[in-house]
Amino acid sequence: MKLPYAEPYKIKSVEPIRKTTRSEREQLIEEASFNLFNLRAEKVFIDLLTDSGTGAMSQHQWAEIMLGDESYAGATSYFKLKNSVETILDMPYFLPTHQGRAAENVLFETLMGHNGDGKIVPGNSHFDTTKGHIEWRGAKAVDCTIDEAFDTTVDHPFKGNIDLAKLADVFEKTPREQIPIVILTITCNSSGGQPVSMENIKAVSKLCKDAGVTLFFDAARFAENAYFIKIREKGYENKTIKEIVLEMFSYVDGCTMSAKKDGIVNMGGLLAFRNEELFRKACTFNIMFEGYLTYGGLAGRDLGALSVGLCESTEFDYLEARCGQVAYLGAKCREYGIPVQEPFGGHAIFVDALKVFPHIPREQYPAQLLGVELYIEAGVRGVEIGTLLADRDPVTRQDRFPKLELLRLAIPRRVYTNSHMDYIAAGLANVLERASSIKSGFAVTWEAPIMRHFTVKLRRI
Ligand code: F0G
Repeated sequence: MKLPYAEPYKIKSVEPIRKTTRSEREQLIEEASFNLFNLRAEKVFIDLLTDSGTGAMSQHQWAEIMLGDESYAGATSYFKLKNSVETILDMPYFLPTHQGRAAENVLFETLMGHNGDGKIVPGNSHFDTTKGHIEWRGAKAVDCTIDEAFDTTVDHPFKGNIDLAKLADVFEKTPREQIPIVILTITCNSSGGQPVSMENIKAVSKLCKDAGVTLFFDAARFAENAYFIKIREKGYENKTIKEIVLEMFSYVDGCTMSAKKDGIVNMGGLLAFRNEELFRKACTFNIMFEGYLTYGGLAGRDLGALSVGLCESTEFDYLEARCGQVAYLGAKCREYGIPVQEPFGGHAIFVDALKVFPHIPREQYPAQLLGVELYIEAGVRGVEIGTLLADRDPVTRQDRFPKLELLRLAIPRRVYTNSHMDYIAAGLANVLERASSIKSGFAVTWEAPIMRHFTVKLRRI
């Protein structure tokens, strides 16, 4: 018999979580104006709001916390991180930042200042904050993801891929000086945690080189992407994750990274560069926005913990258990007839709310309804990836309806067991069973002018 995967660690310290009663949860979610962000975390039994900054650090990472060197400049912890960035990512220059979006801010300030008018940044479904930093500067983020990514019924091993023809078309129609960079997000969060193949990375790199355009990764989940290359792409089955990561990074000029995901730290980020000139330019903005070059908005101890996290997340056994757990939840859901996006991504399972609530109009936010009902049912918190998140059109102020209404269940790293996964799937199955008896969704009673989903207030219709 082939042995199944098992977590390559055992548990030394536990954090208690408590159940609430159903009637408590009904009251709590109403007091929270039906916005899951407004709940107190202690009133959530299993928290799948995000996989960002919610991972469990290892004993080696906690040891680095104690060893943290808090010197303002040139701290030992900085050099430990520098060593990891050099050996794992093979990037000669890097800047620490306090999180991923801070790295994006420094990068886009370096590339275009506040003068992004007419500039175009192609990519594969840019993450919200990346898009925010591009659009806030007056530039445009152009999505060149392959069409297969937007059909949940199509089985494609690399739904994060860029459509080369779409990218070539952008290059053809846009003067070179108007394209400061291409951003390739690995894995692609916005298309469901879907990976990008090595073949695609290579081809995008060649297109960019030929056009003289800089190519960066948004590398938040780079290790999970490498895992999918190993298990799905021909020619990589016998390579180690670390070898695959090195090859991936050999095709790009640098990266931004939210270290709160595959860095397995609670806070942190970085910018890495191959080109010294671009790095030098970015240094000024890092000092202005983040902190000195060798700490960049982080404590020395955080740098040390990240240096270890990067090594641990690029181990095959860890990734097999990590992505295996996400797939375990996906398979359980499928078994219960819960409509989930396939193939399963690296960090989350996405439930198709339009199939759970076909009778609820999109104006009543069916994915939010699913999130609220799952909380009431089981004390599990996910996040809406649908019309509330997509927000209103800035000009017409009408709701913008995205292609899908999804509830994202993001799994924190090394935190929950498969019994928790069983519990989540059972909770969803119970919601599915009574879905047709739920007759209506929500109406907005208050919302912010932008990024409304964080703070929106809702009422039941
Ligand atoms: N890029 C990607 C692909 C992300 O998923 C995130 C964050 C960021 C950049 C920004 O990084 O949070 O450290 O500033 N994603 C989180 C999530 C918030 O829940 O998916 P950050």
